[in-house]
Amino acid sequence: MALFRTRSAAVYGIEAHLIDVEVDMYSGTSTRDMVTVGMPDTAVKESRERIKSALMNSGFGFPNKPVTINLAPANVRKEGAGFDLPMAMGIIGAMGGAAGRASDSFLITGELSLDGSIRAVRGVLSMAVCARKQGIPNVVVPSENAAEAAVVEGVNVYGVKTLAEAVQVLIQPESRLPLQPIATPPSHTPEFDFGDVRGQASAKRAMEVAAAGGHNLLLVGPPGSGKTMLARRLPGILPPLSFGEALETTQVHSVAGALPNDCGLLRQRPFRAPHHSVSDAGLIGGGIGTARPGEVSLAHNGVLFLDELPEFQRSVLEQLRQPLEEGSVTLARSMMTLSFPASFMLVAAMNPCPCGFYGDQTRECRCTGAIIQRYLTKISGPLLDRIDLHIEVPAVPHKELRGDQTGATSAEIRERVARTRLIQEKRGYPNAKIPSGRLRQICPLDDAGERTLEMAIRKLGLSARAHDRLLKVARTIADLGGSEAIQGKHMAEAVGYRSLDRVYWK
Ligand SMILES: Nc1ncnc2c1ncn2[C@@H]1O[C@H](COP(=O)(O)OP(=O)(O)OP(=O)(O)O)[C@@H](O)[C@H]1O
Ligand SMILES: [Mg+2]
Repeated sequence: MALFRTRSAAVYGIEAHLIDVEVDMYSGTSTRDMVTVGMPDTAVKESRERIKSALMNSGFGFPNKPVTINLAPANVRKEGAGFDLPMAMGIIGAMGGAAGRASDSFLITGELSLDGSIRAVRGVLSMAVCARKQGIPNVVVPSENAAEAAVVEGVNVYGVKTLAEAVQVLIQPESRLPLQPIATPPSHTPEFDFGDVRGQASAKRAMEVAAAGGHNLLLVGPPGSGKTMLARRLPGILPPLSFGEALETTQVHSVAGALPNDCGLLRQRPFRAPHHSVSDAGLIGGGIGTARPGEVSLAHNGVLFLDELPEFQRSVLEQLRQPLEEGSVTLARSMMTLSFPASFMLVAAMNPCPCGFYGDQTRECRCTGAIIQRYLTKISGPLLDRIDLHIEVPAVPHKELRGDQTGATSAEIRERVARTRLIQEKRGYPNAKIPSGRLRQICPLDDAGERTLEMAIRKLGLSARAHDRLLKVARTIADLGGSEAIQGKHMAEAVGYRSLDRVYWK
């Protein structure tokens, strides 16, 4: 046997595509003992040395004839070290090793060490999804990635630690039991509870509204008033991830190489809090080669928390506009465009001024008007427009902090949120994502609601986008109140959440 084929996959965005690894060995001489074609990147080209050592050290030997390896289809770039294992197994097959028999029914990925042991790779969950779609019944993956692959039903997952073990699976799959999926039920006990937050009733109410409709949120207040504390508690009142959401979120983390070892499906909504020094690529995604997901995608189906919002570079913040609008990011690469899902709730927090005490009742602000304005204008109008709820988080009075009065617990709030989400599910959209064409129909106003809206638009001078977003927030408040029509009081509360930008951003 001189020509042999194994199958592997390459991941673009969070989608894996089947790649055939064709190995040809021919008699004759060549100055190179192994050539890889089919748009391999540097890491793939370097695999020659790893494969050679791994084969020698595992006792398989290396052919004394020239080897050509083609990664097909040839028109897409192949990145990373995950082709090591399928290439090495292809060579063993081409040498006539018994691994030959059934290689078409296996999708193989893994990075080789020189001693033949196998290292984890990124994107294995997506590859397992690809195998199922393509009708390939078995996958052979690094043992550290086996749990994520086993999430996919209908494929047999074999986690392997060495090249020799992988060959053994191919020769005698019946000698091993495929890995069973680890069933992790969604957890209902959040790490942080709203029951710990004293006072701040109106901020807590706003967080409930945000969670109920999936709205973005800005918290403004002096240092130490509890903004970070409140934000951390948001994931705990959101409904549990559905299987489909969990799968997509886990895929993103797998592609980013951010999944812990032996981790199956992620069942908690992600909470990402990137530091304000984060780069464009760190926040939005990118980097060299086929691009990695950024924080906006790691927060997919969860919460992206930007603490100290004005400290972020303005250019970085402006890049949030696309994901906030579309729920995904598109990255242009030299040969293709990639897209990653990025549907998250944005929670931003900031002080009202550099010293933090502008508008505070208890301490005097030391900033001049010009300094405050410069600070606030770091946040552009279009970005503010995309944040539906702006709320003030004042310092908690000492009496409240020391008292034993705490408000609702996360479990209580979560139940109300879940009930409201159910109403939205029947309509087909979470309130924050109602398409503008359906707004009129889904958000009917009674007379008082209509009047309140009209007045607010006139007084606050809101943009058309802000108007639409106002309606959606009012829809959520009415849903929480169990009302079909949006009444005056619902609209008034929604307007209240948009007044802050007129206080500060005059
Ligand atoms: N409402 C509250 N109830 C109970 N504890 C609180 C409350 N607010 C603040 N704290 C306590 O103060 C600490 C600091 O709060 P937190 O970090 O959330 O403030 P912050 O508003 O984010 O401040 P900064 O503007 O400096 O970032 C919390 O970890 C918590 O222990
Ligand atoms: Mg803080």
